[in-house]
Amino acid sequence: MKEWVPNLPEGETPRYLALVQTLEDDLASGRVKAGARLLTHREMASRLGVSVGTISKAYSEAERRGLISGEVGRGTFVRRRSLKRRAHHGHGGAAINLALNIPPHTGEDELIGSVLSEIAAEGELADLLGYLPHQGLRRHRNAMNDWLASLGVDAHVDNLFITHGGQHALSLALSMVASARDTVLTEGFTYSGIRALSAQIGYRLHAVATDEYGLVPEALDHAFAETGARALYCMPTLQTPTGSVMPPERRTEVAAVVRQYDAYLLEDDAYAFLLKPPPSPVFSLIPERSFYVLSFAKCLAPGLRIAAMIVPEAFRDRSNNAVRATGWMAVPIMAEVVARLIDSGELARQAELKREKAELRLEIARRILKGWLPGSPASAGFHVWLPLPPGRTLTALVAEASQTGITLAPPEGTLGMERRDLGIRLCLGGADSEAELEMALGEIRKILESAESISLV
Ligand SMILES: Cc1ncc(COP(=O)(O)O)c(C=O)c1O
Repeated sequence: MKEWVPNLPEGETPRYLALVQTLEDDLASGRVKAGARLLTHREMASRLGVSVGTISKAYSEAERRGLISGEVGRGTFVRRRSLKRRAHHGHGGAAINLALNIPPHTGEDELIGSVLSEIAAEGELADLLGYLPHQGLRRHRNAMNDWLASLGVDAHVDNLFITHGGQHALSLALSMVASARDTVLTEGFTYSGIRALSAQIGYRLHAVATDEYGLVPEALDHAFAETGARALYCMPTLQTPTGSVMPPERRTEVAAVVRQYDAYLLEDDAYAFLLKPPPSPVFSLIPERSFYVLSFAKCLAPGLRIAAMIVPEAFRDRSNNAVRATGWMAVPIMAEVVARLIDSGELARQAELKREKAELRLEIARRILKGWLPGSPASAGFHVWLPLPPGRTLTALVAEASQTGITLAPPEGTLGMERRDLGIRLCLGGADSEAELEMALGEIRKILESAESISLV
């Protein structure tokens, strides 16, 4: 078999990681096959013009990821495509997941690992393992407030609560402004977590009409008047699942409607960091009646379970009790990791890398699904909205994709939707590499191009 010499991309990624990433990409594209023997450390180093130490580091990282293995006396061999990352995102199996909005890998695991070692080495662990303030340590909140400021969000650190992820923040916020059987307004297609929460507590979700810019203010006005609701949950920036971004004038109108009905806003800004600069949140216009939620799941890693929630000043005490009642405090070690990465500038770097990946992957989606994506998504998020082609059903689309090893999820709760509104969210972050994404989207295109051969419903 021909020897494998990677074409390392230019860029700031450490050389050893670039080599590992290229190996993953080449495995996915078939440029290198399982069983291939790698050049020795020395040979590879001289071909690439890097040090032997860099190659050793790369090979051991590739081995850790399960891409290669060394056999004494024989050399180092390529094993198989890496399913490991997908497995530890919780999906097991070999399916390519385009259903879950997983942030693309940008080396955050190595980074978080090194910060954890640093915390342990500095003897900080003991202090972080006790019962600490429900709201979160002051220095952690200061760091998170700095992060918000870097995104153009002006909040007071006294109103900032550290929560156990964005989902926890949403459940806390809703519990303070709505009771079971109360109506909560939201976009027609909305985030599945808010549906889960409503199913659990018994909130009645009421869909408000949207267009390409998100919530339609007149429809929102009508919905408040019609239902008597006092709460609105929405995602003005990179709405999930549709990807819409609300322009500033509309944000002002939405804020005015919320104020007019003396209601509360729950603004979910999980994807704000992907826009440069992010649009100013609606929260900034009506902070006295807004709960603003910014999770670190998408800009860093979902498994940290850390988010920042800004509450109206009048809700500080209740928020404190709400955190206490539902888990005492968010895990301080994880908050420490986030705070250190903010302070060192590494989080900003991660956000930049994820933004670059989002742009790259959106380009791939545009190229491969040309003609199937409406216009062009306004901004590069981790997801794009694929409208349902005429004559097709969501069920069949999902089933056919599943047969080719691709997981898709139709939006939940399509009740009251016109057929022309239906579509599916394609999450572009979960594929292990750009090559894998290309392959998966190529399969989706084939499915879209072929008529349904047999009715599955
Ligand atoms: C819009 C939106 N909000 C909140 C969350 C949940 O964030 P977390 O993982 O921090 O609970 C997600 C995760 O997919 C999301 O897409």
